Amino acid sequence: MSWIREGELNLIERLSANVLKAGPVPKHVAFIMDGNRRFARKKHVDRQEGHSQGFNKLAETLRWCLQLDIPEVTVYAFSIENFNRSREEVDGLMELAKLKFLRLLDEREKLERHGVCIRVLGDLTLLPLDLQQLIAKAVVATREHNRCFLNVCFAYTSRHEMANAVREMAWGVEQGLIKASDVSEALLSECLYSSNSPNPDLLIRTSGEVRLSDFLLWQTSHSCLVFQSVLWPEYSFWNLCDAVIQYQCNHASITKARELHQDEQRRQQLEADYACVAELLHHHGNGKPADAPRRQEAVTEYGVRREARVKDFLEALRNKRDSFLTELASQATKAAKGKKANPAENGDAKTETSSSPPYWVSTLCVSSTLLFTTDMIIRLGRLTPGYFRLLQRQVAGEVQTKPHDRAVNQIAMMLAIVGLGMSYYSAKQMTEKVRNQPPP
Ligand code: FPP
Ligand code: MG
Repeated sequence: MSWIREGELNLIERLSANVLKAGPVPKHVAFIMDGNRRFARKKHVDRQEGHSQGFNKLAETLRWCLQLDIPEVTVYAFSIENFNRSREEVDGLMELAKLKFLRLLDEREKLERHGVCIRVLGDLTLLPLDLQQLIAKAVVATREHNRCFLNVCFAYTSRHEMANAVREMAWGVEQGLIKASDVSEALLSECLYSSNSPNPDLLIRTSGEVRLSDFLLWQTSHSCLVFQSVLWPEYSFWNLCDAVIQYQCNHASITKARELHQDEQRRQQLEADYACVAELLHHHGNGKPADAPRRQEAVTEYGVRREARVKDFLEALRNKRDSFLTELASQATKAAKGKKANPAENGDAKTETSSSPPYWVSTLCVSSTLLFTTDMIIRLGRLTPGYFRLLQRQVAGEVQTKPHDRAVNQIAMMLAIVGLGMSYYSAKQMTEKVRNQPPP
């Protein structure tokens, strides 16, 4: 399934979309796409299929957002807490992400045509290196696009993001780029992974859970929160319209709360500048108080210098982040070139060996299973009452079994059990690989 799903709304949907667009439409919508596993259980398919259908729904929802003139979407695709799920599920989600980001790179032209910029918000260093490189390549490839934005939160939690922002500011102070007194709410917002986006106007969580689960806690303090009971893979255009209507009903109070907050931030910044200037004047004026016009002038000058410092710091931070991504992306390009030059040593071959058993193991397993089955058929054929009595006498110790025969029997049995297990495992891996193949 492609990231950009082509398709038109039907007549009734189009009419409804136009009615909605006559009112205030959110410019940025965030989704907690919850309920994939419950959907899988409901439909009696495996968990991975639930997540896969979840991705398909994301592609469809992005199209509806564009049709409703919503230019920015942020989705919670993988929380840092999701690393605590079973190894199989985490690996499945990583594989799905790899497939989708590879697909995204194949669709570069289409993304350029639609002007889609993809950003990934989260701590990439927690992810497998090949996925980090793919993500970096996708982000670098689309970063100049500016008509619509998709932010994928991957290896993300809000607390981790905030702690990281605080560390970035501490780095700025350490480097002498900013002063400790420059630290403010506004500066912290600029250091978040989401610094390039306005705060979401509307946050939607599906599946009936009414928690934020550590998602965009800082950014949604003045957003409209909508909790819907539908499972994510079953999300519909009408569910989205319903959420937009709830946003429209609350638009006036949301706008007011935001304006009040902005005024408060400005007031706090001015107060902080006054405090810094008062200390400076006290220092330079040998404790003598400065007159009001002098103080006012000093505050204005101080504000200009502070803004310049902050601007330089943010520029340095952007460069640091950009070079991290560019470096990762170029590693991915080099790896891809190496792969073409020497297919035997490529990353895919590594993934293959790490996720499925080597070829010789599968061969050994299949042959030992065949041997065991043949052996069993012969034994069953011999299972006449006479043979059965002989077995009974052997167990009772009345007849001596040769140690050599016993050892051979035991080894055959063990091999067969291991063989059966490994054959099952190989078959499962192969089925999963076929299921995960991207559609042509
Ligand atoms: C929550 O449902 C969903 C996730 C943890 C994964 C969401 C991922 C996708 C939709 C795929 C996105 C992939 C990319 C590359 C953008 P759940 O697993 O918590 O289900 P449950 O609530 O029913 O247990
Ligand atoms: Mg869930």
